[in-house]
Amino acid sequence: MTEQAPITTIAEIGKHDGETVTIRGWLYNKRESGKLIFPIFRDGTGVIQGVAPKNQVTPEVFETLHTLTDESSVIVTGKVRADQRAPGGFELDVIDAKVLQRVPEDDPFPIARKEHGIDFLMENRHLWVRTPRQAAILRIRAEIIRAARGFFDDRGFTLTDPPILTPAACEGTSTLFPVKYFDEDAFLTQSGQLYIEAMAMALGKVYSFGPTFRAEKSKTRRHLTEFWMVEPEIAYAELNDIMELAENFISHLVQSVIAHRPDDLKIIGRDLTKLENIKPPFPRLSYDDAVKMLQEGHAKGAVENRFEWGGDFGSPDETYISSQFDKPVMVHRYPTKVKAFYMEPDPQRPELALCVDVLAPEGYGEIIGGSQRIGDYEQLRKRILEHDLPEASFKWYLDLRKYGGVPHSGFGMGIERAVAWICGLEHVRETIPFARTLTRIYP
Ligand code: 4AD
Ligand code: MG
Repeated sequence: MTEQAPITTIAEIGKHDGETVTIRGWLYNKRESGKLIFPIFRDGTGVIQGVAPKNQVTPEVFETLHTLTDESSVIVTGKVRADQRAPGGFELDVIDAKVLQRVPEDDPFPIARKEHGIDFLMENRHLWVRTPRQAAILRIRAEIIRAARGFFDDRGFTLTDPPILTPAACEGTSTLFPVKYFDEDAFLTQSGQLYIEAMAMALGKVYSFGPTFRAEKSKTRRHLTEFWMVEPEIAYAELNDIMELAENFISHLVQSVIAHRPDDLKIIGRDLTKLENIKPPFPRLSYDDAVKMLQEGHAKGAVENRFEWGGDFGSPDETYISSQFDKPVMVHRYPTKVKAFYMEPDPQRPELALCVDVLAPEGYGEIIGGSQRIGDYEQLRKRILEHDLPEASFKWYLDLRKYGGVPHSGFGMGIERAVAWICGLEHVRETIPFARTLTRIYP
């Protein structure tokens, strides 16, 4: 009879109340009291408690469960029973348990249900991901990516993937990862932007989603050296258009996670009141006003150093500004000289760039950076030279201003920063399957 039990997953087990089913997974944990064993199984879709009383299972099955070690792989057959007190609403009365591979008693699974230091956990990331909290974060990441692609796909954007091996910098030469490209020097891409600008001139509304690389020397909770960016780029769009797009986009991501991953948000203990009101419109703040806000904060003793107009915001500045709002705040028109070479100057005040940074609430800092792009050929050429960039590598990029140039704009959102904020995590290293940072490239 056990041979014929239908195979299901823990997530789907509610559809089989009263039936005998088979699940395939691992032993997560176990409680035992003499004649009664409560093995807790996980299968990647969820966790369920089994019940095995000595007088109701065969001696072999009881012995198997009694000696079963955490994270041993096991195929379990049992009868599904609704139980209000059970976390998922169901328990499994165990009938049979077949062990595939038993974790040795004297070399147990290293991630025990106790506190470990972060270095130990990162060193064992390949195993740490099996714990419910990490699995929940990874499912939320997947939902955010699904929602991001869906957002653009549903609005007439074409996905156009830029190259990862590139001959030149997009976001400053100080964070380039060099690679040897046969006899030439090349770099891992910092952003797909320049290439999707070309795509926007061909297809109108495009986006890219892929890995990007920055040799960041900063060891902060916001920086990875390899991260995933989603970047829309739109022909004929101006700064205001992409600000509106950004607030709708972020709201869509947050509301999708609330709608589709409520159980995972619960597992990680996220305060939903902080997410529920993330809906357009978002506050807009000019750089000038943001500077005033920081200076007033300094006068009140809430900001340590006095911020002078003209500089770029550091993490503490961004944290203070965002703490004044309960939604992401869109800071626009930074001084040209602290921003990237390709940004269009504000015609009213050429010392400012037509750009926007979206700062997430709760101190998560910048999650989106975007701008209108320089439209004029000569001006762009001048900027490339001013920034010491190799003109020859940018010939094709300049061509876009020669052959039917139009105003165009776009932005980039780092998926990991968005996941960190939406999940309320301390550090971006938990938001990606295997984080790459200044100090880590293993496992
Ligand atoms: O502001 P950034 O540098 O903008 C660009 O790369 C533009 N070319 C994007 C565009 O307009 N198409 O980076 C965009 C976003 C940041 O707001 C942040 O979310 C993320 O990428 N990001 C990082 N995330 C993790 N680790 C890092 N080291 C990051 N650097 C940027
Ligand atoms: Mg930026």
